[in-house]
Amino acid sequence: MFSTFVLRKDRNMAEEIILGIESSCDDTSAAVLRGETLLSNVMASQEVHRRYGGVVPELASRAHQQNIVPVVSQALDQAGVRPEQIDAIAYTRGPGLLGSLLVGVSFAKGLSLSINKPLVDVNHLQGHILSHFIRQEGKEYRCPQFPFLALLVSGGHSQIVRVDDPLHFEVLGRTIDDAVGEAFDKCAKLLGLGYPGGPIVDKLAAQGDPERFKFAKPHVPGLDYSFSGVKTSLLYFVRDRLKEDPDFMQHNMNDICASFQKTLIDVLMDKLLKAVKQTGIKQVAIGGGVSANSGLRNRIASEGEKRGWTTFIPEFKFTTDNAAMIAVAGLFKFRAGLTGGLDAAPVSRALDFK
Ligand code: KG4
Ligand code: ZN
Repeated sequence: MFSTFVLRKDRNMAEEIILGIESSCDDTSAAVLRGETLLSNVMASQEVHRRYGGVVPELASRAHQQNIVPVVSQALDQAGVRPEQIDAIAYTRGPGLLGSLLVGVSFAKGLSLSINKPLVDVNHLQGHILSHFIRQEGKEYRCPQFPFLALLVSGGHSQIVRVDDPLHFEVLGRTIDDAVGEAFDKCAKLLGLGYPGGPIVDKLAAQGDPERFKFAKPHVPGLDYSFSGVKTSLLYFVRDRLKEDPDFMQHNMNDICASFQKTLIDVLMDKLLKAVKQTGIKQVAIGGGVSANSGLRNRIASEGEKRGWTTFIPEFKFTTDNAAMIAVAGLFKFRAGLTGGLDAAPVSRALDFK
């Protein structure tokens, strides 16, 4: 199975320097690692989408084009690394928005040609999962042992993944319709809250009663998820209550948010518990944008404590899209000799891990 050389390199060798580039959605990011240690992680978020209530792909790729050069140079400057010192360039190949990915992929290829360094293509989802392996100077290094289970929850994906080593992933369950982040965002939109909805709902939910209202939970066999029904249940709930009282939302927003957030977390946890039972694996990590949700973080921590799991909850800065996670996933592939050529095209959908 997994050989330790991938995780821990030969101590006599100098630690590899990896430049990571992430541009799959609306954040342009570049990071530099020496071995697993993070030297820099620069991010440029795109505010332009806020007024449209969602990411506008065309605007996203244009903003990436403006941001990519300054973001990469800043990451190198902050790390104190010159381009010729880089050992490999890791970039997000997919999944994501095609136009956005194309900017990062093209930039990585151009840089690779100009400094004559190898490329490593990274699956964005593997990046989220492997973010637990980023080492930070002055902080305790705590990462999952293999095999572990990862609950991957983002705006585009909701999956339970078995991770046997940094190169071998098996998707045990996935959503058959909306991703959980999408459910947060769509519900928030329906309630007239801003975009992205997840963080706003999280904030309001913290002041509300999660037991006050009940929303329908899906019944999907196995370890797969479904979230579109929760959104529909909320839609009917709002419609019916507004008929009775036009001010209902204003007076009950915190309780509504707390209740439907709890419903989403219950659904996530039900299948995760099932996966732990089925596999017997008690090392459990979460990752992706929704792993920033305080309700989910608390719930994973408390369930873990109750059931004797070892849980891994990422720091907030590693929950959203960032290049540090791409660099660390790239590092493992680089150590295994999995470098790629200039012919790799971006992929918008990654149905499975490779
Ligand atoms: O991983 P990510 O940054 O991008 C994708 O790869 O999709 O995830 C973005 C998603 C959005 O749907 C956003 O609403 C959600 O993560 N999100 C949250 C929170 N922070 C971000 N959802 C719930 N609670 C949060 N605190
Ligand atoms: Zn992501």
